[in-house]
Amino acid sequence: MGYNDWAAEFCALNQSLFTDTADFMLSSGLQKAGYNRLNLDDCWQLHDRAANGSFQWDPEKFPNGIPWLAKYMNDRGFSLGIYSDAGNKTCGGYMGSLGYEELDAATFASWGIDYLKLDGCNMPDPSEATYKQIYGRWHDVLENLAQPLIFSESAPAYFAEAENLTDWYSVMDWVPKYGQLARHSRDTLVFNSTLYWPNITGWDSIMFNYGQNVRLARYQKPGYFNDPDFLNVDHANYTMAEKMSHFALWSSLSAPLIISANVPALTKDDIAYLTNTDIIAVDQDPLGLQATLVSQDGTWDVLTKDLAGGDRLLTILNRGNFTANYTVSLARAGIISDTTVPYRVKNLWTGTLSHVSNQITATSVPSHGTAIFRIQGLGTPIKVVPTGMIFNTFSLNCLTASTNETLSWTVCNGSDSQVWQVAADGTVRSLLSSSQCLTDGGFNSTATITQCSFDQKQSWKYHLSGNLKAASSRMCLTEADNGLVHSTACGYETNEQVIALPGGVEIW
Ligand code: GLA
Repeated sequence: MGYNDWAAEFCALNQSLFTDTADFMLSSGLQKAGYNRLNLDDCWQLHDRAANGSFQWDPEKFPNGIPWLAKYMNDRGFSLGIYSDAGNKTCGGYMGSLGYEELDAATFASWGIDYLKLDGCNMPDPSEATYKQIYGRWHDVLENLAQPLIFSESAPAYFAEAENLTDWYSVMDWVPKYGQLARHSRDTLVFNSTLYWPNITGWDSIMFNYGQNVRLARYQKPGYFNDPDFLNVDHANYTMAEKMSHFALWSSLSAPLIISANVPALTKDDIAYLTNTDIIAVDQDPLGLQATLVSQDGTWDVLTKDLAGGDRLLTILNRGNFTANYTVSLARAGIISDTTVPYRVKNLWTGTLSHVSNQITATSVPSHGTAIFRIQGLGTPIKVVPTGMIFNTFSLNCLTASTNETLSWTVCNGSDSQVWQVAADGTVRSLLSSSQCLTDGGFNSTATITQCSFDQKQSWKYHLSGNLKAASSRMCLTEADNGLVHSTACGYETNEQVIALPGGVEIW
């Protein structure tokens, strides 16, 4: 949690911007709420290295120097982070770190820096293998420091949105081993966003990065976090409901909360929602889980996850154009409900407590607003079965059951036929009928949904590759042409076979 200058300032960063921001974060309560890091982005450096090869800060921007700035931060309970690029040049055209990895890491550490955002512009070549090699080298160098730096890797962002997502998935396989967070998609809108993404609204941009993040839930774990980019709080293009959604969604995903805005000019209302302690507790939850999708119907997105202490999160996003209510059953929230004991539900925006025994209604959710609830068991712990959408993370089509044994991949519509329970015994059951199980057809055959019979054909394992494999035939569930659901030989992280499952499923 913290601050980065980029979205508000571009290259106009300087010492007083950082000291003023830190001072305001202290006096406004932002630091107390957990925002305790300030990160310099691109353009802090001179275009040339010193005679000994080391980076030099721009003395006009940082007259007292970066070590002084780091001490200023540390003295006030903040950490200071910095930006560089794995390639020859940064995205803004300054010197990159290629070939200078050890010297640059040692330099940053000696300045009192404890966090590095390493961008991936201007690499020697655009191959996944080259990114892996250079980010891997950085991992080794950073780990060998007396105090390893936190490592934010931008590599995945350079492979997103390809026609074939295999490289994106491959990069995602290694970034959690090398670092603590990774930018996986586009930049959040900057103050004059047309440079990056013409004709886009702030809301579209939030929904885009959120949409990329939900494809990658399987990678997140304590110690590694998917980074859907900054909270650009003062972007002129947002309504208050949209900004609050941005914060509530990022918190539901346990994403980094890095404010990129003119912080001393934030309004009281902005500070109020950004310091909501209940929602920050969801973001910083020790389980570190990313909420996963229960359902999407074009208007409403529903997400859940486990929280520490046996609690459960329920997040309800209204993408529609009107204020409305929305009800979610406890079954959809993944709770095997005991109707004799009510559950306690806290609305994390209002603090209101209520008791429910079978469903939760979000009332008057504004257009583009997000309701967020914490569910607690009273007396007995909550029993959870991972429940939600099973979707292809390339096509975004949902696995859809029917009452006549056939399955299809179709546009997500929020119906029970697209909400699945993935039980610990490896069975996959649709909410349409809990006695019907996903059934492997064997090599190159159609998968079906048939009466559950404890047959090996109904036992599945989910892999970090995103493949859902049948225990019996070792075939992978596949989106074939025309939305058919096949069992075919597992390829290497192919568009047709990489699938998202509800969170909490054991991953092999
Ligand atoms: C890339 C990154 C941004 C920012 C700029 C700096 O676009 O994604 O977050 O660091 O480079 O040039």
